[in-house]
Amino acid sequence: MSLRLQSFKEYQEAQRTAKNDPDGFWDGIASQFQWIKPHHQTRSGSLQGGDLKWFVGGRLNITVNALDRHAIERGNQSAIIWEPNDPNHLGQTLSYKELYERVCDMGAALRASGVQKGDRVILYMPMTPELAVSVLACARIGAIHSVVFAGFSAQALADRIQDAGATVVITANEGRRGLKIVPLKSTVDEALEHCPTVQLVIVQRVTDSSCAMQVTRDVWFSEFLNRGTGLPCPAEPMDAEDPLFILYTSGSTGKPKGVVHTHGGYMVYTAYSFANVFQYERGDVYWCTADIGWITGHSYIIYGPLLNGATTMMFEGIPTYPGPDRFWAICAKHKVNQFYTAPTAIRALMCHGEAPVQAHDLSTLKVLGTVGEPINEEAWHWYHDIVGQQKCPIVDTWWQTETGGIMLSGLGSLSPQKPAHAGLPLPGIDPVLLNPDGTELQGDDVEGLLCISAPWPSIIRTTYGDHERCLNTYFRPYPGYYFTGDGARRDADGLIRVIGRVDDVINVSGHRFGTAEIESAINEASIAVESAVVGFDHPIKGQAIHAFVISESALDEAQKQVAIGDVLEAVEKGIGKIAKPARVQFVQGLPKTRSGKIMRRILRKIASGEFDQFGDTSTLLDPSVVDSIKIDAQTTWFTAP
Ligand code: PRX
Repeated sequence: MSLRLQSFKEYQEAQRTAKNDPDGFWDGIASQFQWIKPHHQTRSGSLQGGDLKWFVGGRLNITVNALDRHAIERGNQSAIIWEPNDPNHLGQTLSYKELYERVCDMGAALRASGVQKGDRVILYMPMTPELAVSVLACARIGAIHSVVFAGFSAQALADRIQDAGATVVITANEGRRGLKIVPLKSTVDEALEHCPTVQLVIVQRVTDSSCAMQVTRDVWFSEFLNRGTGLPCPAEPMDAEDPLFILYTSGSTGKPKGVVHTHGGYMVYTAYSFANVFQYERGDVYWCTADIGWITGHSYIIYGPLLNGATTMMFEGIPTYPGPDRFWAICAKHKVNQFYTAPTAIRALMCHGEAPVQAHDLSTLKVLGTVGEPINEEAWHWYHDIVGQQKCPIVDTWWQTETGGIMLSGLGSLSPQKPAHAGLPLPGIDPVLLNPDGTELQGDDVEGLLCISAPWPSIIRTTYGDHERCLNTYFRPYPGYYFTGDGARRDADGLIRVIGRVDDVINVSGHRFGTAEIESAINEASIAVESAVVGFDHPIKGQAIHAFVISESALDEAQKQVAIGDVLEAVEKGIGKIAKPARVQFVQGLPKTRSGKIMRRILRKIASGEFDQFGDTSTLLDPSVVDSIKIDAQTTWFTAP
């Protein structure tokens, strides 16, 4: 199988083919996989209708392509290298044959327990090989996996379990992150008080601590796996359009939505984009530091690499434990060739200077990648000069949970690169910039709303259980286009720089949160009458959250301290620690229009310390509110340590 383009000329040719004959282009890529039955139509539906289907009539199972093929052809090659949280603990390496066998054991055990095609299985786990095995085992038997990041609270977990109508949860007794122990099973127990659909909980024993086990519901992972050992586990034949997974992500309104991806299109696009962006060559060791709880982990720790027969690393811990050189120590230890991380991590590590990087031999690195948020030029240069020794191209990969795979990015060293610019689209991807009125901005050196004007195989199919929401969010704002929610700039050379969200989504350390979601969590605090949150620039996290909260009554300083604690606790309870505001400011009112809409634009200005440039405020119901917020903001607000 050769998915990899090898020169810029080949890239340009692929772009041309994809434009002139999109069906032929995608068929050519799809034909390199094993299908039980080939498709009879490359795609149906349209962006206009938000009803796209790919490889219609095709039947396959993604795990046959990710595992079986390689287990036969290169069974002893390392598939997953697992690096534990504590460098003194024993790591693990699973060959393709071993990974295949474990996935089959787990798949057979799930089947033997009555889990069937289409059932939803929630994975709430630390970064262990068992997580990868569980993901793949679900896919093998056609169950729909939904990984919930293990930093979410019981409430957030329960919301997702309920929305998915899941019957099984796979978790661990505890997780380890640096010196911190994360209680997972007790969080699951709390969530399950509100989730009667769950019949089975499978618990990996990660630490030595005990945890409560309900005899009729809970079983240890190792014992569960034994139930499948030796049983055959044929891959479930799946329709190309059958759902592979649901992954919840935040939008500008309401609760997080379940983004649905399918077996066929997602397979083709993640495999193709992985091969090209990272220019992976057989034998390379590739490491993406994301958590599998996010889309990056799905597409570029598990599926993309394994579909290419790559060696992919998984890391259980954090970048700064036991020291700020951990990433670099791991790169040197495993002779990593492609390294993929988030700008937040780069900025955090930059603070520790060059010495931790220079202490390690990073000469094997060939490609460096970033994802999740805009990378500022300073961080880009540090990454390029210090980590990459000016020898490695940086692929600044722009994409989203909804796109399934990387959309804009350099392809290893093939493409032109410019600091802080994602650059050019992958072949077959057609980005456009629109004016707010929906007209396309022509030419270069322009800035507008980033939309995609041609369908691609791993485009979001639906938001689970609510297709209207999917249409309203992505397909109806600008008919005929997929709307990304991002603003972007195309420079004089046609290279794209993604600037950030244009909707009410805040990107903290590369993690997405909807303002509505955080506000409804804050409003659960008994002290809070109403709240509004906005993002402000943060030197490490990219953005952080500033919460404006109307309290029930006026508060003196001591009461404020208690109230702040209540607000933070409410967010921790509703969503998780990761969504905690960095600042809480109590206010007497919020700037609202006459129709009751909060003018976040003004709050954003105040949060970024711009107290005078509010633009048109004539639609405000009570302009004096702004003055009082402003005065307060200039004197006091709580800032998290
Ligand atoms: O705003 C963009 C930002 O992250 C959003 C997608 O978030 P999520 O679905 O959680 O997926 C993150 C990992 C793919 C986008 O709408 N974003 C992602 N990558 C970049 C980026 N912003 C700028 N540059 C990037 N490379």
